[in-house]
Amino acid sequence: MSTTINNLISPVWSRITPIVAERAEGAYVYDQDGARYLDFTSGIGVTNTGHCHPKVVRAVQEQAAKLLHGQANIIFHQPLLELAKELRTIVPEGLDCFFFSNSGAEAVEGAVKLARHATGRPNVIVFQGSFHGRTALTMALTTSKTIYRAGYQPLPSGVFVAPYPYTYRYGWSPEETEAFCLRELKLLLKSQTAPFETAAILVEPVLGEGGYVVPTPGFLAGLRRICDEHGLLLIADEIQSGFGRTGKWFAIQHFGVEPDIMTMAKGLASGLPLSGIAARRELMERWIPGSHGGTYGGNAVACAAAVATIRVIREEGLLENARRMGALLMERLRTLQEKFGKRSGVIGDVRGLGLMVGAEFTAADGTPATDLAKAVVKGCLKRRLLLLTCGPWDNTVRWIPPLVVTQQQIEEALAIFKQAVEEIA
Ligand SMILES: Cc1ncc(COP(=O)(O)O)c(C=O)c1O
Repeated sequence: MSTTINNLISPVWSRITPIVAERAEGAYVYDQDGARYLDFTSGIGVTNTGHCHPKVVRAVQEQAAKLLHGQANIIFHQPLLELAKELRTIVPEGLDCFFFSNSGAEAVEGAVKLARHATGRPNVIVFQGSFHGRTALTMALTTSKTIYRAGYQPLPSGVFVAPYPYTYRYGWSPEETEAFCLRELKLLLKSQTAPFETAAILVEPVLGEGGYVVPTPGFLAGLRRICDEHGLLLIADEIQSGFGRTGKWFAIQHFGVEPDIMTMAKGLASGLPLSGIAARRELMERWIPGSHGGTYGGNAVACAAAVATIRVIREEGLLENARRMGALLMERLRTLQEKFGKRSGVIGDVRGLGLMVGAEFTAADGTPATDLAKAVVKGCLKRRLLLLTCGPWDNTVRWIPPLVVTQQQIEEALAIFKQAVEEIA
């Protein structure tokens, strides 16, 4: 594409590849010259069923010929009702009522609005490293990097930040890290936001943009206990960690904890813009009708894609595949970590759940090795493997292949990654 045409697109979209995609299929993206790239970004955790899964494409085509748009304040349509029915079978127990919107940020913002109406309280507690979106309120809820906030201050108030159990960064044992984080959260409720003015605790069950951090085993249960003690609502943001990404439908299901409200987007509709809020009906009934909504939320074609997505994940055993391929990926990354020498730097930590895996690059003195991680991603791109970084220092390479990924594709990606690391480290 010529530079002139590129200039028509806003540079606010910082871009990590020059690729102009022609088409995509499964784990592969093809550019306009027919070059094939192995896509381990899944469009940032969206194409969980693989690019253009035939059953999702067929559902989209069939629905497009029947009804494109039916505004929810005016009419309901079959895909909307079917999606709610399907979701009811996969979300955590107790969540039995659904609202739909278009983007992740919209869902999170809606979830906080719901929590405020349902409790009559204004404040929200979030965690260090959180990413919840880019609208004004969700920027205020986001602490993963200053780039998402700088220049937009002052942001909406009423947001308080507690530490997330990022064990590797703190350098303590998981038990010490968990105890510290829960202690600090309790202190926050004593010193900054009184429980009677705190509506909710909003948490990513696995930290996404903030560095692909899996919480310590008892952390989410600890949040549940604190919420129950003080009448706060627990909101799980499953926008990146949901839809099979971690080997269960939703990451919180690994921890035996039930949230009061849950947000979802990304993998929900395999690439069509759709997000959702799930909550107990009793809470939804306290949300004043007409005080929230939107023109496009629950779009008919997007809902049809979501119904097909859920069925594909179920019928093709993709949760099981995510668990198996994730375990393989982690094991091989840990072998590479040993090979490059943990103590002499390079890959300081390998962590993850299912196919939500991070490899954190650290210098020998333990400081974040941002340049190294970025150079490795560039080296992989040169070899036609698409990977992303994350974390406050952008020093964690994140692995988010589609859930349909094969062992051969994992091996291929790892071989490329190894070459890229060897070239640079
Ligand atoms: C956990 C989480 N919440 C919210 C969002 C915002 O979603 P969107 O970019 O669709 O607004 C993201 C996006 O990366 C996310 O990872």
